[in-house]
Amino acid sequence: MVLEEIFNAVWFILPAWIGNMLACTFGGGKPIDGGRTFVDGYPILGKGKTIRGLAVGVLSAIIVASLQSAARYTFNPIIFGFLMGLGAMLGDMVKSFFKRRLNIQSGRPLPVFDQLDFVAGALVMYYLFGPHVLDNFYPLSWTTIATIVILTPAAHLSLNVLGYKLGLKDVWW
Ligand code: CTP
Ligand code: MG
Repeated sequence: MVLEEIFNAVWFILPAWIGNMLACTFGGGKPIDGGRTFVDGYPILGKGKTIRGLAVGVLSAIIVASLQSAARYTFNPIIFGFLMGLGAMLGDMVKSFFKRRLNIQSGRPLPVFDQLDFVAGALVMYYLFGPHVLDNFYPLSWTTIATIVILTPAAHLSLNVLGYKLGLKDVWW
């Protein structure tokens, strides 16, 4: 069933989605790179990657996974939430690192990568560490992965446009 596939995909990726969203909403303050520049003279990560954002992203993913496991248990929520939240934040940071190397300033768009960085990070983390730290690790089907990859930019874009229209965001991307 298509709806069931969509539900499975959303259910799996939800901690990363919410973690990323709340990191963007409640992030700010001290930058992770300490304001330092790389050998090329550009910021290492830039002022958009902050310690508070990182902490909010990881903690909120753990909270979301905990709420989910109360409804339907799949994984240890602390371990799974930590993997997904940290993976999402690292994926976002790796993308920012490469954006700065391309001399794209913080906050300027890099389409596709901006939308999928955190999903890629969360999935890489899940496959790298999940088999070792989760009791009931299972590989995702290709259809679930494809569904996540298609739904994420769509959901991301809709929410951003909504936030922009509501005056919560300065840019629509
Ligand atoms: N944010 C944060 N800490 C993080 C991730 C995000 O504080 N680890 C906050 C920042 O306020 C950031 C906003 O969320 O400006 C939007 O995040 P994002 O779009 O990922 O960063 P950009 O500012 O667009 O920077 P970049 O060009 O590096 O993607
Ligand atoms: Mg951005």
